[in-house]
Amino acid sequence: MAPRIEKMMLTPEEIREGVWRLARQISTDYEGKEILLVGVLKGAFVFLADLARLITVPVQFDFIAVSSYGSATKTSGVVRIKKDLDMDVRGKHVIIVEDIVDTGLTLAYLMRNMLARGPASLEVCALLEKEIPGKSEVNIKYVGFKIPDVFVVGYGLDWAENYRNLPYIAALSKDSQ
Ligand code: IMP
Repeated sequence: MAPRIEKMMLTPEEIREGVWRLARQISTDYEGKEILLVGVLKGAFVFLADLARLITVPVQFDFIAVSSYGSATKTSGVVRIKKDLDMDVRGKHVIIVEDIVDTGLTLAYLMRNMLARGPASLEVCALLEKEIPGKSEVNIKYVGFKIPDVFVVGYGLDWAENYRNLPYIAALSKDSQ
């Protein structure tokens, strides 16, 4: 049975404001440069589409798909690339665009993997970051919102491939996790 949506965490207006703020920061920081946004599929596709259209410096995008082994709602840290980038990132200013950073294990893997490809610079932009103890130490330069340790869906984020299309971000009921 699909779990219930329990609580609205971020309204469409709040998300829009947060994405604007990130786009402004990125546009200022990368003035005079070109950026390659690397979206992490599938969750980041909605966020990347909105973010990219608000950034005012030249932008290219590419996508990577990874699978993290673990339970339905928790990552184990073992990551496999399911779809690699089409582009060569060497010499480019890369920003990894993530929907949510939970334990940070997926991101830590992606950072190591990207750095080995020799980009000119590498940063991370995550819409959401969960505030949990014992998170992997990853430096996330651009964070939209910090949220408590609850399982959230909407705006690209799923539960078993459901709810990605919600225009807001909501918490699922505890008994569904
Ligand atoms: P991490 O490796 O624990 O940081 O997990 C990161 C990935 O797990 C994200 O890119 C999401 O795909 C997924 N994830 C973590 N927390 C949530 C959540 O609350 N809702 C939906 N997906 C999540």
